[in-house]
Amino acid sequence: MKRILSGVQPSGNPHLGNYFGAMKHHIEMQDKYESFIFIADYHALTTVRDPEKMKTSTLHLVLDYLALGLDPKKTVFFKQSDIYEHTQLKWILDCVTPHGLLERAHAWKDALEKGKKEPTAGLFGYPVLMAADILLYSPDLVPVGKDQKQHVEIARDIAIKFNSIFGETFKLPEPYIPEESATIKGTDGQKMSKSYGNVIEIFADDKDLKKQVMSIQTDSTPLEQPKDTNTCNVFYLYTLFASDSEIKDLKNKYESGGFGYGEAKKLLLEKLIEFFGPYREKRIELANNLDYINKVLKDGAQKAKEESEKMMEKVRKAVGYVNNFV
Ligand code: ADP
Ligand code: TRP
Repeated sequence: MKRILSGVQPSGNPHLGNYFGAMKHHIEMQDKYESFIFIADYHALTTVRDPEKMKTSTLHLVLDYLALGLDPKKTVFFKQSDIYEHTQLKWILDCVTPHGLLERAHAWKDALEKGKKEPTAGLFGYPVLMAADILLYSPDLVPVGKDQKQHVEIARDIAIKFNSIFGETFKLPEPYIPEESATIKGTDGQKMSKSYGNVIEIFADDKDLKKQVMSIQTDSTPLEQPKDTNTCNVFYLYTLFASDSEIKDLKNKYESGGFGYGEAKKLLLEKLIEFFGPYREKRIELANNLDYINKVLKDGAQKAKEESEKMMEKVRKAVGYVNNFV
């Protein structure tokens, strides 16, 4: 069975883009692959400067994944910060990583171009930590969004470099970008993203969900006229959940006229509540059972450690760190 590994940063309430672009794939892949999914809380330290926020957003992301169906019996699910080998390996990889390779990373270049105040060494080294995350577990595939593809390629370059200096040690990873994870559009038709304020959050309560749905931008076609399903943001979002026959029904309503965007939004809201309702209930149940959450993470860390310690031992040997001189 092939192995996958992916990390997710704890960064606020998940939206439809996160779900359809990443989380759903991670969860579905557990049935076909040997899966490792972790919360990238070390990476989060490049931006989060508030310990309470670090704690709660990490817990929330764990709850989100478990509620949405990640099964800790099938997936090794853990926190990056529980596994010391990630930062140990990062240093060793730092020592073989050409500075220029990191200077060319999009995320770093973007930070500089946007005039980020005091960019840190941590941000510069972000792809090396990501390489360590990946190479410790020898995955065949690394499922990521398009924005992370370059980082996986950098991990591959670093592995090649290390192997060429110290001998075959790391398996070369491949990025895997699921076909259907094409960019999900937000309430304004642009890419859905927290930073654009155009999201529909999957665990929002009914009131917030309604507000987000009502804010979807529509054109000014009068109520009685037929409407274009190809350009309508409400219709587009509806197609993400609805069955073929429901989509066809709605298309007919759009095309026959006399059907307003307000009504379409109401249908979308109902669909959202129906689709995510059971997940929301499950999430509440999990949030009330932190003993279970702690156990899941402890077990996950233990399984991850079995792998990471083995690999770290191999790496230490490769570079000449021994426990006993003989
Ligand atoms: P945001 O842009 O809201 O800050 P993140 O950058 O934290 O989202 O994304 C987390 C994960 O969700 C990444 O794997 C990313 O590729 C995926 N993702 C985010 N927004 C979208 C979207 N609109 N469509 C598809 N995937 C997305
Ligand atoms: N940088 C990734 C993101 O922001 C998260 C991440 C950290 C990751 N380490 C990883 C993804 C290793 C895949 C493999 O989305």
